[in-house]
Amino acid sequence: MNDKTLMEQAQKAREKSYSPYSHFRVGAALLTKSGKVYTGCNIENAAFSATVCAERTAIFKAVSEGERDFEALAIVGGKEGETADFCTPCGVCRQVIAEFCPRDFKILLGTPEKFKAFTLDALLPLSFTEKDL
Ligand code: THU
Repeated sequence: MNDKTLMEQAQKAREKSYSPYSHFRVGAALLTKSGKVYTGCNIENAAFSATVCAERTAIFKAVSEGERDFEALAIVGGKEGETADFCTPCGVCRQVIAEFCPRDFKILLGTPEKFKAFTLDALLPLSFTEKDL
C-alpha cells in the first residue's frame, strides 16, 4: 500500500459522505501496521453537534474492530464538486489521532494527484495525552 493508493481510498470513501447540511464532503483512509485499510466519511446530523468527521469514523471503525497500531491516515475533502488543496483535520480529530498514534504518525493531505505528508506532531504540537494525567 503506497501513499497514493491510500489517498485514492480516501477519495473513494468520500463518495459515501452524508453531508446534506454543509455540503462539505470528506473521506479518510487509515492504514494499519498489518496492512489493512479502514475508511470513513463524514456523517452529519440535523442536530449539528451529532455530526462525526471522516477521520473519526475511520479511527473508530478500526479501534472497534480491535486495531490499535496505525501506519498512516489519508484525508481528501472539500466543498461538493471540488477537492480542497488541503482538507486539514479538525482539532477534535487531531486529539483522537493523538490518542492512538505516535508523534511521528504520517498524515497525508491533498488529492491523489498532489498531496503532502505531515507528522501528527506538526499538526498538534504540545498535545495533551495520557502522559499529562
Ligand atoms: N469534516 C470532516 O469530516 N473532516 C475534516 O477534516 C473537517 C471537517 C466535516 C465535518 C462536517 O460534516 C463538514 O466537514 C463541515 O465541517
